Amino acid sequence: MDNQKVGYGIIGAGAIAGIHAKVLNMLDNSCLVAVYDKIPAAAERLAKEYNCRAYTKFEDFLADSQIQAVTIATPSGLHGAMAIPAAKAGKHVFCEKPLDITLEKADAIIKACDDNGVLLSPVFQSRFTRAVCMVKDAMRRGRFGRMVLASAQVRWFRSADYYSASDWRGTWHMDGGGALMNQSIHAIDMLLYINGAPEEVFAFAGTLSHSIEVEDNLCAAIKYRNGSFGTIEVSTSCAPGFPRRIEFSGSEGTVAFEEDKITRWEFVKKLPEDENVFTEQSREIDAAGGRTPMGIDITGHRLQLQDLSDAILNHREPKLNGREGRRAVELICGIYESARTGKPYFFERP
Ligand SMILES: NC(=O)c1ccc[n+]([C@@H]2O[C@H](COP(=O)([O-])OP(=O)(O)OC[C@H]3O[C@@H](n4cnc5c(N)ncnc54)[C@H](O)[C@@H]3O)[C@@H](O)[C@H]2O)c1
Repeated sequence: MDNQKVGYGIIGAGAIAGIHAKVLNMLDNSCLVAVYDKIPAAAERLAKEYNCRAYTKFEDFLADSQIQAVTIATPSGLHGAMAIPAAKAGKHVFCEKPLDITLEKADAIIKACDDNGVLLSPVFQSRFTRAVCMVKDAMRRGRFGRMVLASAQVRWFRSADYYSASDWRGTWHMDGGGALMNQSIHAIDMLLYINGAPEEVFAFAGTLSHSIEVEDNLCAAIKYRNGSFGTIEVSTSCAPGFPRRIEFSGSEGTVAFEEDKITRWEFVKKLPEDENVFTEQSREIDAAGGRTPMGIDITGHRLQLQDLSDAILNHREPKLNGREGRRAVELICGIYESARTGKPYFFERP
């Protein structure tokens, strides 16, 4: 195996695993060595497509010395069950969102990776896109002035078949929640990444149009530690499905996203580079994520996997580590706790 390439094994050969395999195949610093799935046909199909080994026994997969890192693409409630043995076997971990469905399990993954000296990068691919980097930079430079509002609206649509065709989606024990934990966690991560830690939330949640045990609609009001407020409105009931909207406003400026594109970029103090914001990206907004589960652009996964491999090869932390990945799980669990108790939920100081 090429010394400059990190060898990867994929755990769980379902829908998102196809994107992991495609991206690993494209990168100069990574290569796909093997795939593991408990269903032999699933492992063999992906392995055949990418000309790599297929495993159906986890122990055999973990014993493969050419696998230096794993990507975890199993149902969300199994992420810890896969990540912890992988870390103990000395494999670095790229873990799909959410890191896991409870804070206890997310913390156990972080600890296992720390204890075994392996890197952990939980997937939040939107953070790696050019648009999100530009907004983060504007925030770092204080261009928003005093932050006042940071809100997200995810009016998506998922059919009855989307839930009934899966043995884990829409369940508490494997999906860990519904429209918020599964579909809206990227929006939650962006609110935290750009605007900072939450102080308090109050939420309503309900199952309004699907036969599932978790929520398909949820609305929360949030107060952040920096004193600003926001609303979080999420749904998988809004036919035919619309682009995710996220908006940040301060006393000196406002930025809005639709999906990962910037649709509003207005600052009181203008800079020459502001002119480039809309010429650097196409103006077309992709509504695919709101309508179909796999309407995902591969750019973010490509950049995040490239960063993890570079971190492994150069013995540094990945740009997005376990503690960063845990933040969205903490906010989501707090929102669910408020919806369950009918009371505000207060977060511990970071
Ligand atoms: N980053 C993103 O935008 C994004 C998009 C889609 C899904 N995801 C996440 O990826 C994960 C997988 O989602 P998916 O849509 O690919 O699911 P999926 O149901 O299509 O695939 C899951 C695969 O895991 C396998 N599996 C289940 N239990 C296993 C076990 N014990 N051992 C080995 N394999 C096992 C299944 O056989 C299946 O092939 C979820 O956590 C989801 O939240 C992330």
